[in-house]
Amino acid sequence: MFKIVLLNNSRDKILFSQIMLKTQQTNELNKKLSDQIVTIGGWVQSRRDHGKLIFLDIRDQAGLVQAVASQAVSNEVYKTVKQLNNEDVVLITGEVKARPINLINSKIASGEIEIEVKSLKILAKSRHLPLDLNKTDLSVSLVTVLKHRSLALRHQKTRAIFKVQEQIVKSFREGLADLGFTEIFVPTIVPTATEGGAEVFEVKYYDKKAYLAQSPQLYKQIMVSVFEKVFTVAHAYRAEPSVTTRHLSEYISLDAEMGFVADFQDIMAIVAEVIKKIFSDLNSYCQAELGMFSNSTPQISENIPIIKLSQAQEIIFKRTKRDHRKELDLDPEDEKEICRWAKEEKGSELIFITHYPVPKRPFYTFPDPEDSKLTLSFDLLGRGLEWVTGGQRINDYNQLVTNIKKWGNKPENFKVYLEAFKYGLPPEGGFALGLERITMQILGLKNIREASLFPRDMERVDIKLVKN
Ligand code: 4AD
Repeated sequence: MFKIVLLNNSRDKILFSQIMLKTQQTNELNKKLSDQIVTIGGWVQSRRDHGKLIFLDIRDQAGLVQAVASQAVSNEVYKTVKQLNNEDVVLITGEVKARPINLINSKIASGEIEIEVKSLKILAKSRHLPLDLNKTDLSVSLVTVLKHRSLALRHQKTRAIFKVQEQIVKSFREGLADLGFTEIFVPTIVPTATEGGAEVFEVKYYDKKAYLAQSPQLYKQIMVSVFEKVFTVAHAYRAEPSVTTRHLSEYISLDAEMGFVADFQDIMAIVAEVIKKIFSDLNSYCQAELGMFSNSTPQISENIPIIKLSQAQEIIFKRTKRDHRKELDLDPEDEKEICRWAKEEKGSELIFITHYPVPKRPFYTFPDPEDSKLTLSFDLLGRGLEWVTGGQRINDYNQLVTNIKKWGNKPENFKVYLEAFKYGLPPEGGFALGLERITMQILGLKNIREASLFPRDMERVDIKLVKN
């Protein structure tokens, strides 16, 4: 009988000895365990046959470890190992062997050891692979990657995207919780469109009609009357009528909302703080993942520059002679140009654009007291793309009812929302950060679909849909 080595940490002991087949993760294997017997489990990343020795790279959630099957140790095990395919799932019990100094692999956490295989159990077989997961880059088209999404997600660079994404959400949550925000969870089946426009999915709701929420906007505002400062990580749905590299039909919205704001500068200050925390945490905890991409976290100045939309349009006109000064918004080229300006002139890859015109913003946006054609709203652009939208909201009940009507909606559809304002809600505002957008821009991904585990777009809901 082999002696199974358990970890010192009592929580891990319970985990591994009682409910797991494995005793160790690959990143826990090091020289200190030399000559000990361990059981590891994972996927066969690769198999290299060298005569009487076969080398395996075994991948688990924590990384890779090299295992060696030798005919001299067990011919039976050797024969089983020889049959292994990439992605077969195996459980290996073996002896930890320190590697000679010249064979240490400093690229992996377990690189100073290898496992001499004593016994091996195949837990699941893999078929022939349509993708080569051992290439540094998958080197196939995005269409092929999405066709084989479940498998492609195992590729180390693709996995890295979602480890980075996990950290972004963690930092968003921690940053806001530290500032006294309460996390809330809100519904995504709603009685009416919230953000305006036609980009809304209708749902057959029993024998009635409902919609998929375009954002958690109305609920987070209501919750200001309960907790003052709230945040949520929510699914949001947009029936985007076109296929672009920056729009999804379903995305994750990192939303925050707070009461008692003096003006909308307060909200931008919170956005800046959260973004800085995200960058700093990524640099602390996701070095390995960031290192796989040629990009680092964006350069950011102490104060992120803030300019009005009209100023941005003037700058763009001066730099490019493109005259968009009468437009109500920036187009994708404008967003890129103003970001170039911010980098060159202000040393920042991020920039706030403020004071968007009323028709470009939803009904709840606070009008600018100095110019009723404009709103106290902002976008945060980063590396040429909008990441965040935010602003102050109308908190006066009567003004909200008037605006709902002005925007062509029925106040009775907003009954629950309006009730919060009817009974007193302080001056408030908030923002929403698109998770896939920030992930994409930090890592320099070309298409937002790469930053979504299972992207939904006009043509695809896992599989390509066909028209009825
Ligand atoms: O600009 P949006 O539509 O603003 C709102 O939803 C407001 N409720 C926010 C607020 O608090 N006032 O969306 C916010 C962000 C965008 O800046 C973008 O990052 C992301 O959500 N986003 C999308 N991401 C991917 N695909 C789409 N179709 C997106 N639509 C918006």
